[in-house]
Amino acid sequence: MAAFLFRMSDIMKNALNIVILAAGKGTRMRSDQPKVMHHLAGRPLLRHVLNAARAQDPDKIFVVYGHGGEAVPQAFSDSKDIRWIVQAQQRGTGHAVQQAAPHLDDGGVTLILYGDVPLIAAETLGKLLGTVQNETLGLLTVDLPDPAGYGRVVRDAQGHVQAIVEHKDASDAERGIREVNTGIMALPTARLKSWLKALRNDNAQGEYYLTDIIAMAVRDGLRVSTNKPRHHWEVLGVNSASQLAHLERLYQHEMAMSLLEQGVRLLDPKRTDVRGELICGRDVTIDVNCVFEGRVVLGDNVTVGANCILRDVRVSAGTRIAPFSLIEEAQIGENGRIGPFARIRPGTDLAEGVHIGNFVELKNTRVDCGSKINHLSYVGDTTVGKNVNIGAGTITCNYDGAYKHRTVIEDDAFIGSDTQLVAPVTVGRGATIGAGATITRDTPAGQLTLSRAKQVSVPGWKRPSKEK
Ligand code: UD1
Ligand code: CA
Repeated sequence: MAAFLFRMSDIMKNALNIVILAAGKGTRMRSDQPKVMHHLAGRPLLRHVLNAARAQDPDKIFVVYGHGGEAVPQAFSDSKDIRWIVQAQQRGTGHAVQQAAPHLDDGGVTLILYGDVPLIAAETLGKLLGTVQNETLGLLTVDLPDPAGYGRVVRDAQGHVQAIVEHKDASDAERGIREVNTGIMALPTARLKSWLKALRNDNAQGEYYLTDIIAMAVRDGLRVSTNKPRHHWEVLGVNSASQLAHLERLYQHEMAMSLLEQGVRLLDPKRTDVRGELICGRDVTIDVNCVFEGRVVLGDNVTVGANCILRDVRVSAGTRIAPFSLIEEAQIGENGRIGPFARIRPGTDLAEGVHIGNFVELKNTRVDCGSKINHLSYVGDTTVGKNVNIGAGTITCNYDGAYKHRTVIEDDAFIGSDTQLVAPVTVGRGATIGAGATITRDTPAGQLTLSRAKQVSVPGWKRPSKEK
């Protein structure tokens, strides 16, 4: 029983609440979208912050929203772990946290994050949380060569943090301080609540500053322990389109460096964009200007040519994707040859050794081992067997204007060029379709099927010519 009580109290003591401030207007974005909805690496800014927050295994996550109304909660309606707190009017960072205060668990620690500071690393937050105790709060700071605009960290002669002074309220001497507040802090929740109640807005901006609680904490005898992030860019905020573009490049650079470290051969790390997750096997080569979205997995020895876009794709070992291919929600088997200029749409599943050539569009189609569709074709809602050869200009007519129908092409079939297969239809095993056919009925296995007007030549025929 005693052990049980001990564990319960331990849990209570460590209850971690995270408050993400995301109510600000973001005027300088010059956009109708709420700021935290803008994308970095293909995902909203807030999504990045949530990922770093979740990595801390918090008991509760609160997001304070306001500007843009319900658009933000709606966009994140799949995130059931978020408790939404509305801040109707933005009256300062302290005021924002005050809105969440009644919902915070007394026993534990509260971590404050920002929806527009997307690159914060989970590791940095973990370290910061490690410094917080009942009598200590943790503050993340950075030294900036140009600290203008930021809150300055004021220390006493012994180097103990005394207060944060906002730029607009700072004296000339204080403005000379290079160590600035990142805004990210972790503190004992019960204390936070009492300090929030005491905030006043008699300052240069007429706002309730969260930063004022640092001086209050010091007055109450607490110690402020400071941490620095591993990279200064972790704490950069997004206030404008140009800052967003800058952070995107920083993120992509980090992503590229990590891929290179894993041995992926990026022909130019500055011209590779990963907007999601890219998982690579050994000896993967990626040429310039490729974009990877969602979750992309490339097996051993896969090569991706220049200017390809892959979204939610799994490519098995040894496959070569030639330049200018667009592949979405598909599986590509081993030792395949795809492109150049292939368009592979959702629901495509290619088995081993399949060749898909230029200007071929596939959709919701399964192609079995060793089959080839090499030129200028549309194959949709189709099942293609093994070792099938589909000639240039083949079209599956899968749509009758109301319904989609399936085409089945059995093993070893040969489809002549310029064939239309009007679905639903089945081409039997080993069947051959002569070029230029319009196939509307099932074709028997092993036979040649033709559907074309007989060729005639007219002897003695003369071209008309103008009278002189
Ligand atoms: C804040 C800090 C400053 C720090 C800087 C780092 C305060 C008073 N100052 O200044 O010390 O150096 O961040 O970037 O905290 N927000 C709300 N509701 C509000 C006000 C703000 O949700 O009522 C959110 C904003 O959306 C934004 C964040 O809080 O994400 C910071 O607000 P902002 O007004 O930009 O603070 P700064 O003046 O930059
Ligand atoms: Ca700011």
